[in-house]
Amino acid sequence: MSAPILAVENLEKRFPGPRGQTVHAVNGVSFEIRPGQTVGLVGESGSGKSTIGRTVLRLLTPSGGRIVFDGRDITSLPEKDCRPLRAQMQMVFQDPWSALNPRHSVRRLIEEPLLLHMDLGGAARRARAEALAERVHLGRAMLDRYPSELSGGQLQRVCVARAIATDPKLIVLDEPTSSLDLSVRAGILELLAEIKAESGAGMLFISHDLGTLKLISDEILVLYLGSVMERAPSAQIFDAPAHPYTRALMSAHLPPDPAHRPERIRLEGEIPSPIDLPPGCPFKSRCASAIDDCGRAKPGLRAAGRGEAACIRL
Ligand SMILES: Nc1ncnc2c1ncn2[C@@H]1O[C@H](COP(=O)(O)OP(=O)(O)OP(=O)(O)O)[C@@H](O)[C@H]1O
Ligand SMILES: [Mg+2]
Repeated sequence: MSAPILAVENLEKRFPGPRGQTVHAVNGVSFEIRPGQTVGLVGESGSGKSTIGRTVLRLLTPSGGRIVFDGRDITSLPEKDCRPLRAQMQMVFQDPWSALNPRHSVRRLIEEPLLLHMDLGGAARRARAEALAERVHLGRAMLDRYPSELSGGQLQRVCVARAIATDPKLIVLDEPTSSLDLSVRAGILELLAEIKAESGAGMLFISHDLGTLKLISDEILVLYLGSVMERAPSAQIFDAPAHPYTRALMSAHLPPDPAHRPERIRLEGEIPSPIDLPPGCPFKSRCASAIDDCGRAKPGLRAAGRGEAACIRL
């Protein structure tokens, strides 16, 4: 098996909160991504998905743990040394409208990362921008348009073209289809699956929706209150989820099928505040299987099928 392009060990990220409190956004998260592999990161709003994505790309500085990118420890690399790495690690955001400068043509938007990171002459740069536009199925005619003339789906294709322009080794996709019309989401997912297959880049694909991750993810991490509840091959998450939280997310995701209806698990109550992290298992206040022991210590990940889950009741 090839060496991981990204290895994250025990990552922690705390933010200063209101009134001098501390927001514990990410609490000891570990995972690896290998070349060509896509890891899905799923969790409810506020579970720390975007913070993980931004921290592994060193757009944020971690509060603890270790980030190794392409064999190099980048945990506390100063910003000026992170900059040359940006060509190798790219991000696609949820909202393509705010990710693109509306005053620049599509051509200029796609050429921008090439200008910044690659030493190409004008003709080679133009040719590459045209090839990239075609790669994301935009067509050359789009190159002379401006963002206001494009649909959301087309704009997200421009963002994908920019993200792959420098042949990065790692791409973080933060809810890349969530702000798009339902009718164009499948097309963007298909494009990302094509790029995954041909580029060899490792991908971290963030979504609050398990269904979105199904097509593209090799492995899925289920996040709750900044901690990994379960980590398993994608097929196992869908066929045999181990953690009670994953089972609850799955049952919310499944369409009602009267012939084969697994017991519906309703997620009740609020997610606890990341300011006052509860002792023990973070999920216990909403878990139908919780017992007194769940409050004693935070459960570590233990083997569950071909993956791991953090639950003492397994
Ligand atoms: N810059 C910041 N300052 C203070 N708190 C922050 C900051 N960024 C994120 N947080 C907090 O960290 C926690 C995790 O936020 P994050 O945005 O990573 O969650 P998320 O899973 O991406 O949520 P969503 O699905 O809504 O995008 C939240 O409690 C959030 O309020
Ligand atoms: Mg987010």
